[in-house]
Amino acid sequence: MPSGAGHGLCLLADDDADLRRSMAHVLEAMGLSCIEAASGNEALAILEQTGELPLLVSDVSMPGLDGLDLLREVRRRYPDMAVVMLSGIREAEMAVECLQAGALDYITKPALLGEIQSRIRRAMEKRDLLLENRFYQQNLERMVGQQALRIKEMFLEGVQTLVHALDAKDPYTRGHSTRVSHYAGRVAARLGFTGQSLEDIRLGAALHDIGKIGTPEAILRKPGPLTAEEFTSISEHTVLGERILAPLVRENPTVLSIVRSHHERVDGEGFPDRLEGSRIPWAARIVAVADAFDAMTTDRSYRASLPPASALAELASHAGSHFDAEVVAAFRREFAEPET
Ligand SMILES: [Fe+2]
Repeated sequence: MPSGAGHGLCLLADDDADLRRSMAHVLEAMGLSCIEAASGNEALAILEQTGELPLLVSDVSMPGLDGLDLLREVRRRYPDMAVVMLSGIREAEMAVECLQAGALDYITKPALLGEIQSRIRRAMEKRDLLLENRFYQQNLERMVGQQALRIKEMFLEGVQTLVHALDAKDPYTRGHSTRVSHYAGRVAARLGFTGQSLEDIRLGAALHDIGKIGTPEAILRKPGPLTAEEFTSISEHTVLGERILAPLVRENPTVLSIVRSHHERVDGEGFPDRLEGSRIPWAARIVAVADAFDAMTTDRSYRASLPPASALAELASHAGSHFDAEVVAAFRREFAEPET
């Protein structure tokens, strides 16, 4: 809690030595220790030595850097200092100008001792409240941030369990999700994705087939071609996957777009929405290529794996029809070179 901390020190700026002394007595009677400055420039020089102090009480008219300029400079350099202005001029305009520049109060001299003290005290209380508010606000933001992080961690742990459940169901795809995530991440980075969007692509790629949790094992493991009904059943994994994850990743639309659209084709012959070209979300176009590359380079129940060079050539032959040409080009550049 910031309250009460550092209340002891006050900087007092006034070019009239007698008035400054008597004001120092008033402040000292409130338990404050005063550092006295005879001009605006001297006050700034003192602050450079001491750093920010809780309170500045300053006369308005001083030779050289006057009170108003000092006030503006102090507000700019030391925004947490409470500033109370003193003036012999009973001028509403000057008072308004000082308050607009950030002074917490404006006292017209001569003033009664009790009035000065109560207004200084009120200014200090106001400063305390402002600091306290900020303290709570920052603390709250930190706590909310920590909670959001924990919720995300818990979500990822839950998702990991789903991935393992899917791997257990279909041994041929064991490790597939992890590899697709790796390939998609590398290609997305090459295409310029960074930060959260890159993370979302990796996560979406790791989860792209999560809807297969709902596909019968007999269909998943079937060697050879599928019947029309079986194909319909397996193609539903896109929509089902999106439905499974929807409540969890409302704030990660990229992840959902990958899960739903990774079987779309740029010629519009894909599923489930028959989207064409650039209407297919970028992230889904990337994962579609990564998915195909991994499927081709690993053994399946119905065929042996292709060497990577043949798989890359196969991707190239379908660029612009099945796959996004730019993604395929990035993929070939990324994987034609030895992995570092
Ligand atoms: Fe899939």
